Amino acid sequence: MLKNIILLGFTILGTYGAPPDNDNWGGKWFPHSPSEPDLNPKINITGKSHLHDPSHGIVMGVKDPSCDDGKVSLNTDWYMDPVNYTCYNDRSLYLPKSTVHPIHSVEHIPEEYSALHKCMNESIEYSERIPTFGTHRPLWAIYGEYTFLPKQRWLHNLEHGAVAMLYHPCAERNQVNALKALVKSCLYRHVITPYDQLTMERPLALVTWGHRLEMSKVSDEVVVGFIKSHALKGPEKVSRNGQYDLALSSSAKIVSTVDDIKLCPNYMK
Ligand SMILES: *[C@@H]1O[C@H](CO)[C@@H](O)[C@H](O)[C@H]1NC(C)=O
Ligand SMILES: *[C@@H]1O[C@H](CO)[C@@H](O)[C@H](O)[C@H]1NC(C)=O
Ligand SMILES: *[C@@H]1O[C@H](CO)[C@@H](O)[C@H](O)[C@H]1NC(C)=O
Repeated sequence: MLKNIILLGFTILGTYGAPPDNDNWGGKWFPHSPSEPDLNPKINITGKSHLHDPSHGIVMGVKDPSCDDGKVSLNTDWYMDPVNYTCYNDRSLYLPKSTVHPIHSVEHIPEEYSALHKCMNESIEYSERIPTFGTHRPLWAIYGEYTFLPKQRWLHNLEHGAVAMLYHPCAERNQVNALKALVKSCLYRHVITPYDQLTMERPLALVTWGHRLEMSKVSDEVVVGFIKSHALKGPEKVSRNGQYDLALSSSAKIVSTVDDIKLCPNYMK
């Protein structure tokens, strides 16, 4: 039942910096707690070119071998090591439990926040176990299912309104398959990947820009409710497909239209 979802809301603490006094600076300040590392450093965009964009620093969706073309330096984000999609633990520790309720957590992202793009020569770290927004790569992922897709890619898809489905490599296969089928029947703009940062209690998750839902067990009602409420709400309304396709195992199929005009059309309410 929906009322059993535990809703955790939290605000990112922080202060806005003083307005920039350098007119050349085209980025935006992001509030961050003084005790935490600044995950979204301000960058100096002097000498603008076609690869510069006033809000993100580096323009998105343009393949540039000196920055990000979906081919060079991909091991900055992932060593292409099967360790990240293989179950090494006892699968019985990850079994679904009907007594473990889903947790929906919300990150309040200031409206004026604009995520930065970083080239592959720089690593991107996140303070959250399951980030829901933040600096990411200029090229986003082609929609579909992956053997493994790094978070530095899928976060860009979330910014465009996508849903990312994450599952622990040891999660029960029937639950994983049920969640995949549900997501695929709800919208075109999805990516699916194993993710080893999920807990034993809740080895399944859906993530949208600012929202995450962690689950022990698939409930159609909870999943469809989450997708209908939080998909397509990213700050950039872009339905165009991505460019990154390393380890893509199957491309997403259109459900209603390319811009997902009807979410979860098989689940009328
Ligand atoms: C930005 O870069 C330009 C050119 O390298 C430099 O002259 C300027 O001082 C820099 N501004 C800041 C705020 O770092
Ligand atoms: C990374 O590459 C970009 C584009 O080539 C460049 O602008 C940036 O300064 C480089 N960053 C570092 C830390 O070398
Ligand atoms: C892959 O797994 C290794 C070993 O657990 C871990 O150190 C690394 O951060 C993981 N990489 C990704 C991209 O999740």
